[in-house]
Amino acid sequence: MALITKKIKGTEDVLPKESYKWQFVEKIMRDESRKFGFKEIRTPVFEHTELFARGVGQTTDVVQKEMYTFDTKGGESVTLRPEGTAGAARAVLEHALENEGLPIKASYFVSCYRYEKPQAGRLREFHQFGIEEYGTQDPVADAELICLAQSIFDRLQINQLRLEINSIGCPACRAEYHKALKEYFEAYKDELCDTCNSRLEKNPMRILDCKSPICSKIAENAPKITDYLCDECKEHFSAVQSYLDAAGVEYTVNPTIVRGLDYYTKTVFEFVTDCIGAQGTVCGGGRYDGLIEELGGKHLPSLGFAMGMERLLMVMESQGIQIPDADECSLYIATMGENAKVKAVELVAQVRNSGLIAETDVIGRGLRAQMKYADKIGAKYSLVIGDNEIEQNSAEVKNMTTGEKTTLALDKTFAEKFAVLQLTANDSFKI
Ligand code: HAM
Repeated sequence: MALITKKIKGTEDVLPKESYKWQFVEKIMRDESRKFGFKEIRTPVFEHTELFARGVGQTTDVVQKEMYTFDTKGGESVTLRPEGTAGAARAVLEHALENEGLPIKASYFVSCYRYEKPQAGRLREFHQFGIEEYGTQDPVADAELICLAQSIFDRLQINQLRLEINSIGCPACRAEYHKALKEYFEAYKDELCDTCNSRLEKNPMRILDCKSPICSKIAENAPKITDYLCDECKEHFSAVQSYLDAAGVEYTVNPTIVRGLDYYTKTVFEFVTDCIGAQGTVCGGGRYDGLIEELGGKHLPSLGFAMGMERLLMVMESQGIQIPDADECSLYIATMGENAKVKAVELVAQVRNSGLIAETDVIGRGLRAQMKYADKIGAKYSLVIGDNEIEQNSAEVKNMTTGEKTTLALDKTFAEKFAVLQLTANDSFKI
């Protein structure tokens, strides 16, 4: 029968045989962010459209071209989150978290939705791990956040990443910069795409991250924000760099980084790689001192970053980083006959209760097919039970790698003895 339908373009399935890679990476992200004092926040997958329009910015590509927006049956306009920052900020405001003490430190795993042209490393549904910190304007916080991202990459043994940082100033210095940009781009009015022409008046900085090849070429020689920073922004940026130097984090200053979302102020940064093709930005973030106010709150200087899970896994794969599968079966129990099946049910329960992974036949296969399956799932040990073993109340547990056999009693001590056996032989990489 033909398939009813296939997955939607730009989406991906993570199959059971691949999911351990995600879990491994997620565990390290949770672990590292916990060490820095971050706790998880979970927000809805959709929000009022207005939140993203105001938060991410009306003149961004994300809002103008890429959002999955629809009207509900009740007539409200809602949007699938294109990123995690706006939703987290909304939650912080709605629950008045600033009253519980500052800084507020939140981490998240989210699926995001952007109607972009799919290509390697660019999806319409993708996943981010993100960090947000609210209530500090101290440059030490900027450096600390970058250190957190770096420590995640270090733990994952990723080394082909460059950290690029920039400062895009505050609204005060940006006014001058906008003027300079407008003057520059006016000369290319006829060549810029329609969207960029409309940005010329409202927000010329957005022309700098237009994806059209003509606009990006023109943008290459545009004035750089670093030449327009006010004293306070310059000082802030130089302090961020001193703290990064003190932490031993390597970076380059790239004055062309402006980021594609409107909320950024001062520090912005990206971790970039050349090893996964054109979509090489694995992590992006920065400071957004005005966002909470823009959403109706008080002035609450904040900052954060997000890493693309798919891109990160692509980098790890391209670097040949082996991710250990923590879910490999410890023991497969093959059975011959009904009595053996009953015994196997009892033994796998014992082994599972001891915290190990155990499987037995649930399809009614013959012995050869059962052993083939044990091989396929990479069972570390196997055990065959038939009427003889039940009569003797013992059986041989076989190490599937070395072939070594050990006789164990099939009684209440089985799981305990098996755990000891497999612990002494266990040479697997510990997460
Ligand atoms: P962003 O740069 O738009 O920033 O996205 C962050 C990361 O998500 C990117 O560096 C990339 O790895 C991944 N990503 C973005 N779009 C796609 C896509 N279409 N397909 C696959 N991966 C993608 C933000 O989203 C900000 N909210 C980050 C942030 C948090 N800034 C402050 N706090």
